[in-house]
Amino acid sequence: MMKISKQTLLTLAIFAIAISCKKTEEAPSQPNTLRNVYKDAFYIGTAVNRFQIEETDSTMAAIVGKEFNSITAENMMKSVHMHPKRDTFNFEIADKFVALGEKYDMFIHGHTLIWHSQLSPWFKTIEDSLEFADVAEKHVKDITTHFKGKIDSWDVVNEALNEDGTLRNSIFLKKMGEDYLASAFKWTAEIDPDVDLYYNDYNMTNVDKRKGAIRMVKNILDQGIKVDGIGMQGHWHLNSPSLEDIEQSIIDYSELGVKVAITELDVSVLPNPWDLEGAEISQNFENSEGMNPYKESLPDSIQVKLANRYKDIFNIFLKHKDKISRVTFWGVSDGQSWLNGFPIRGRTNYPLLFDRDLKPKAAYDSIIALKERFDKQPAN
Ligand code: G3I
Repeated sequence: MMKISKQTLLTLAIFAIAISCKKTEEAPSQPNTLRNVYKDAFYIGTAVNRFQIEETDSTMAAIVGKEFNSITAENMMKSVHMHPKRDTFNFEIADKFVALGEKYDMFIHGHTLIWHSQLSPWFKTIEDSLEFADVAEKHVKDITTHFKGKIDSWDVVNEALNEDGTLRNSIFLKKMGEDYLASAFKWTAEIDPDVDLYYNDYNMTNVDKRKGAIRMVKNILDQGIKVDGIGMQGHWHLNSPSLEDIEQSIIDYSELGVKVAITELDVSVLPNPWDLEGAEISQNFENSEGMNPYKESLPDSIQVKLANRYKDIFNIFLKHKDKISRVTFWGVSDGQSWLNGFPIRGRTNYPLLFDRDLKPKAAYDSIIALKERFDKQPAN
């Protein structure tokens, strides 16, 4: 029988102890949540409403905290809420929003500084152009000062473009001319040079609008003013926009040298009234059975279509993860989505990853599985 020396036995024992210690020191494996699975690709965010900010529902609060590592306030940081009167700011709920993000160690996105919609009515009472410009500057600077160092990125300007790529004739354009765009970015950077500054809009995959956005952002950059990123909102449908347009847009925007974020992602499964020739939307379709086909539940076949659509979209995001900073869903669960009320009121839509009972849907499983496959064999 082979003789083992005392020294050898000692060495083996130390080795065995070292291995067992190493095992217990290893971090426990992370649960397969969206934020964990995608953490080496880009931030995965969600829009949150007042109830989610205040964590009123414990199941919902657990989903927000575990699944996402970025948040955007769906409504509470818009001027109508945060700057209700000329000399009054209401930061209470927005401060709670920031505290929520800090609690869960999230990337906190501010939405939005300059937007013609949900604009506080008092803005519209200012006749004089110079006074209007002063007020706009103060609005941007006061808000940015309040959140300096706490907000990681801002939608500085939201939805300034028409579908043909020209500038929307908003109150800001009318009063200040097109300089309002560059000014807004400049004012924000002057106050908080470290925060990331985004231009954010919808239908950003459409060719004309895409060209307009590129022209506009390039014009600001050419003036030596900082723009860090372009936000493609991503309010999409089962069959549109095409995967080619989504991919090409990401490429085109990133060629400006800025980051690309998908800022408000959801996929409507309902008929789109704008697809119908000559359709008059909204009220005309209210109570129309044909426009609200899944009132009781979503058929399995559509559930699968939605899961595949999300898989295809995320496949593109992963392929271009070097260009993408963040992918944010416009809400957590189907019951919360703005798409139940737009463009037709009172419909039952299913655009998000969690159902009305806060259970993950097939779409959720499909993007988790996609990333796990991607880690084994990256997309090409
Ligand atoms: O809070 C009131 C409630 O008290 C009242 O009873 C009810 C009656 O209509 O309205 C409630 O306010 C609604 C608010 O959402 C909260 O649900 C507003 O009417 C409604 O206009 C508002 O809609 C928001 C919309 O922006 C306004 O433009 C949506 O929630 C929000 O998801 C949506 O988000 C926008 C982004 O900011 C920019 N990109 C497009 C995106 C979708 O439209």
